[in-house]
Amino acid sequence: MTEIVLASNNAGKIKELKALLPAFHLLSLKDIGFDLEIPEPFETFEENAKEKAKTIFEFCGKNVLADDSGLCVSALNGSPGVHSAYYGGHPRSDEKNNLQLLTALKGNINREANYKAIICLYRKEGVHFFEGTCQGTILEAPQGNAGFGYDPLFVPNGFTQTFAELPLEVKNKLSHRGKAIEKLKAFLDKA
Ligand code: IMP
Repeated sequence: MTEIVLASNNAGKIKELKALLPAFHLLSLKDIGFDLEIPEPFETFEENAKEKAKTIFEFCGKNVLADDSGLCVSALNGSPGVHSAYYGGHPRSDEKNNLQLLTALKGNINREANYKAIICLYRKEGVHFFEGTCQGTILEAPQGNAGFGYDPLFVPNGFTQTFAELPLEVKNKLSHRGKAIEKLKAFLDKA
């Protein structure tokens, strides 16, 4: 199984997934001629990842990978969670999302958070899920220009720099997405 369609329009995720899966021939939604928004209407990462993967599998019939992910903040009872992409409103903007997060956490000394990713592999042989989490803390002001989303505010545990300051190879070793993809690779190696 070398060809996989990535069911995402998020440039940040796609860049990371390409670096994490060098042995695969990854196709974009553009490559398969899919140019609509993919629905993610559910309240769990699993259901949204499956919905995205299923939508694209039914469109093209090829092997599909979908990633549904987000930032879960302890002091906000797990928010923004599955609503991470549009936390700051529509249209989606990382800047607005980060500002919304800083506003929600203003004055709060509990800065604990974790990123969570569910990767769904959807093939004619079956559907499989792979999970990854990454614990860290939320800063009071953004730092760094790499990465995407909440990365300028997120410092992984054991580090002093944010994911927007650390090199991609380091983020990919520690991150929720990197851990989920490791599980996917182990699964495919055994199959
Ligand atoms: P979705 O999976 O399309 O619902 O979007 C996930 C959202 O969660 C992104 O738009 C980001 O806001 C956030 N997110 C997920 N993973 C990461 C990451 O690795 N870095 C920064 N933000 C992330």
